Amino acid sequence: MATDVPANAFRELDRANPEIQRVREVAIAALHLAPGQRILDAGAGTGEVARLLATRLCDSGAIVALDASEEAIAVARERDEGSCVQYICGDVTAMDFADGWFDAVRCERVLLHLGDPDAAVAELARVTRPGGRVCLVDTDWESVAVDGLPRPLVARVREHLLATVVGQHLDMGRTLRRRLHRAGLAEVTAVPVALYFPDPIAAAAVLPMVNPMVPAEAGLIPGDLREDWFGALGEAGERGDFLATLTMWVASGTV
Ligand SMILES: C[S@@+](CC[C@H](N)C(=O)[O-])C[C@H]1O[C@@H](n2cnc3c(N)ncnc32)[C@H](O)[C@@H]1O
Repeated sequence: MATDVPANAFRELDRANPEIQRVREVAIAALHLAPGQRILDAGAGTGEVARLLATRLCDSGAIVALDASEEAIAVARERDEGSCVQYICGDVTAMDFADGWFDAVRCERVLLHLGDPDAAVAELARVTRPGGRVCLVDTDWESVAVDGLPRPLVARVREHLLATVVGQHLDMGRTLRRRLHRAGLAEVTAVPVALYFPDPIAAAAVLPMVNPMVPAEAGLIPGDLREDWFGALGEAGERGDFLATLTMWVASGTV
């Protein structure tokens, strides 16, 4: 059985990846931020986006970074060098905020891990004021595609991944728009952002199955294929003909 999240080393790489930053800029634009607003990053992880927003908006507003993981919140606090972000441990499906408390709410790469993502969407909408914005960001893991590797090898790794990764909604990205519609939001839009990785090292930052630092026990690659897979990746990288793409979605709407 595969684990639902990659190793910490993978997350560290991901934080700085320019393709992820590109998605985040699309998501920030969708929030229609203005000075003086209250903003929530729900499932904020170690708070990178919250601190980025703080550099753009602080002095005039309030930014809350909420995450269910006490460990993530502790790391977030450690990394904070005096920003105005307030870090809170909490569950996105049952938050302690009053109805309509926030002007803008974002939630990135969290819903795919949840048993009931629509309960979380309803809760995000509840804590957003009428007229405020909700922005969801998630991956469509079924969209992952690569070139430069033997097709049968790719087919087996892909099939294994899609069949064994459990506890995740692998199609979450493309479902975000309908989830916002069903939660009753208005002016719902969805933007697919195709991430492009021109070599295995760039891809490893976001695609755990391409990252040799993700341990074999994570189960992302069939055990008997691991050597062939990483060997083929190395050769494709040396030849310069590897590429990979992955679509992430940014969906937003007005409460
Ligand atoms: C893949 S990380 C994404 C973190 C951050 N949003 C980002 O995009 O870098 C998923 C985060 O969701 C958090 N999470 C999972 N379930 C949650 C829940 N029910 N309530 C709040 N946070 C949750 C995890 O602790 C983790 O930090």
